[in-house]
Parts: sequence; structure tokens; C-alpha cells
Amino acid sequence: MSIQSLFVTEIYAARLQHAQSPLNARLLRECLQLRRDDAAGRRWSAVHYPGGYTSYDTASRMQERSPTFAALARRIDGHVRRYARGLEFALDARRLVMTDCWVNIMPRGVAHTAHLHPLAVVSGTYYVRTPPGSAGLKFEDPRLERFMAAPPRRRTARREHRAWVELPAQAGRVVLFESWLRHEVPAQRVAGERVSISFNYAAA
Ligand code: NI
Repeated sequence: MSIQSLFVTEIYAARLQHAQSPLNARLLRECLQLRRDDAAGRRWSAVHYPGGYTSYDTASRMQERSPTFAALARRIDGHVRRYARGLEFALDARRLVMTDCWVNIMPRGVAHTAHLHPLAVVSGTYYVRTPPGSAGLKFEDPRLERFMAAPPRRRTARREHRAWVELPAQAGRVVLFESWLRHEVPAQRVAGERVSISFNYAAA
């Protein structure tokens, strides 16, 4: 063994619950209801999230507002703990707590351009409804701007050698990543709305 992997970027993906579970059904109803009720959020989305709806600006702490979202947050907490243990974070007396939790609804044609999640340690998304063929979550190699004259990788290169990797979005599953890692959601290409709940955890 002469080649070693260093400076790895670790992403966590797991099933949180069955897509047909009662909690997921309640989450879906509340996401759609929130869009109906949140006129200010619809106006904000028209400017910042064209064609879609996000409660990022208007209802961004859903875990404090809805017992259903609080139940989801408790389930996510366990996954975040496992992820942080795997990353070997030295948090000392601190722990990671959910600070933000918001709803995203993407009809066909809507995309979310590349971004980071400032002021957070771990971020992620839970998928509520994902019509077949829904856009995934696309991550970018954080070293990309340092590669200078490095050759591109073969089209058939292993996933860990690619500059961009798209993880599928599947209802009932959760994806976690470190908040500094740039990511985007490519355009939703299929009919039917993709519904997800995104969140941030910070050290408190
Ligand atoms: Ni994001």
C-alpha cells in the first residue's frame, strides 16, 4: 500500500425514516401549508428563489415553531452526533445544536446556485418528497481553486477523484456536510415538486 488518502472531505448520508412514515406525511402537509400561509416568504422567494418557495428568510427556525419539525430535529440530532464523532471534532464542553431549520420547495426548472452556510459547523438537508428523477445535492471539491495546472480527471474517474459529485435526493433520507463545503442544487428537471428541509448546527 503506497498511496494514502489525506485531507478527506467527509459527507454523511443515511435513511432517517421511511418515506411513508406518519412523521414524513405530517412534515409534507406542514411544508405545503407554510407556503400557503407565508405571504412574506413567497414574496422573498420570488426575488431570491425564482420559481420556488423557501422559508429561509421568514420562518427559519421551524424546529421552535412546530412540534412536527421539533420531532424531526430530535431525529436529526442523533445523525449529527454520529457524523461529528466520525469527524473527530474536539468540541470540549460544547455541543452541536440546531440553530436554523427551513423549508424549500422546488418545482420543475428551479435551481439553487452554489453557496456555503456561514456561521454554522454542520449543515444538511432532509428530503420530504422527491419525485423520481429529482435533482440531487451537488458538492464541489473545496480545493478546486488551488489546482492551477493540474490535469482534469478522466470522465470515468472514481467519485473521490471528481471535482463535483452529486448525491441523490431521496425522501426519508438525510445528508450532512461541513458548512464550509460549497454545494448547489441543479435545476429540478422533472414535473412534481421536490420538497426538502434544510438546517444548520452550530457549537454552543
Ligand atoms: Ni445549502
